[in-house]
Amino acid sequence: MSNTDLLQRSLSAVWHPCTQMKQHENDLPLIPIARGQGVWLYDFDGKRYLDGISSWWVNLFGHCNPRINAALREQLETLEHVILAGCTHQPVVELSERLSALTGGALGHCFYASDGASATEIALKMSFHSWRNRGRTAKQDFLCLEGSYHGETVGALAVTDVAIFKDAYAPLIRPAATVPTPDARRAEPGETAIDVARRAAAALERHLEMHHASIAALIVEPLIQCASVMAMYDPEYLRLARALCDRYEVHLICDEIAVGCGRTGTFFAYEQAGIRPDFLCLSKGISGGYLPLSIVLTTDAVYGTFYDDATARGFLHSHSYTGNALACRAALATLDIFDADRVLEQNITRSQKLAAALAPLAAHPQVKHLRQRGMILAFDVETADPKFSRRFYRAALANEALIRPIGNTVYLMPPYIVEDDEIAHLGQAVEKALAEALE
Ligand SMILES: Cc1ncc(COP(=O)(O)O)c(C=O)c1O
Repeated sequence: MSNTDLLQRSLSAVWHPCTQMKQHENDLPLIPIARGQGVWLYDFDGKRYLDGISSWWVNLFGHCNPRINAALREQLETLEHVILAGCTHQPVVELSERLSALTGGALGHCFYASDGASATEIALKMSFHSWRNRGRTAKQDFLCLEGSYHGETVGALAVTDVAIFKDAYAPLIRPAATVPTPDARRAEPGETAIDVARRAAAALERHLEMHHASIAALIVEPLIQCASVMAMYDPEYLRLARALCDRYEVHLICDEIAVGCGRTGTFFAYEQAGIRPDFLCLSKGISGGYLPLSIVLTTDAVYGTFYDDATARGFLHSHSYTGNALACRAALATLDIFDADRVLEQNITRSQKLAAALAPLAAHPQVKHLRQRGMILAFDVETADPKFSRRFYRAALANEALIRPIGNTVYLMPPYIVEDDEIAHLGQAVEKALAEALE
């Protein structure tokens, strides 16, 4: 197999995601990947790229991780998959128990699907149905934050506020109401991130005061709205939102599909606010970046509203690969690595090194809002060039790094095994790519 051969065949047979395919023919060539090892991806000629975005935020412990590979090999010889309606198996039970324990037992029931968007759909449906089972049939609406992203199926788009993904499908969508984002970049002169959080929470309060009777749930991406340009905010917002949801009888859904599994420093981002959600959506990193897996965790209270003799009061939602044994086993191997390698502790030092490597950028006249939380670092680039993102992406590839800016926001979200010399490599690649993209 050669790079050229694979590219030609891919262009004619594969419809690639999130892309205008025509651009792949000239402006934005596909990158052929022959294999991966650790943080590196290699093409067929041995050219390498450091995976600075963990392959769309999923890979936690590197490509072809020997420990996850071994667990999967063993699972392959035991049970690859079985229908989860009416059957059960060891990996799904163990994973549910361990995830529930990680929430301190607060979220004791795990419902499974494959992708993040399906988890969003499930949380929305469960919230609505739970209120309905309680006789609160007026609670049919959802609330999301300005700039929110919760996936791209039709239901998930309803609570997604990113025009480029949503506008074409507007006639199909029953949109949720949006409330102001607590994005710390919104600070007025003299304001802190906490002030912005309080201002946004006050707007949430005004909305809930008026509309709570018809609202089933508020859905948030805790601490970082990743897809809308890595907007970071203070945990104060989550504390206030939790209290308001309690006061106005509205469920709080924490979508930790991107920010869960240690990304922000704690295993779950919501922990930093000292709160607990009613629903928690997980996906991406939970399987170590190996297999599609998503999970919605919820409380005994919500579970109890479905528990009944009447079938119709049950949650009759399913996907064929619900609770796939291989995916669950990959997740268990991922959790094992967190424990064995004290990953959250090690990531404190790792994120400090990342900060140090990128710190010189703060002096760059076109770099604004250099920000970081845990293993996510981002900055905005002041430029009027509409092609900045594409130019930066290509320049980063030329400097052996896979980094995909979102608009004018450049971010790094590397796997948790990134070594000192690889962090230095990322720092240099960003610096060079920025200079080249702004030339
Ligand atoms: C916060 C959040 N929710 C949901 C999703 C959707 O996940 P998936 O792409 O697996 O459907 C994403 C994907 O980036 C996300 O960041």
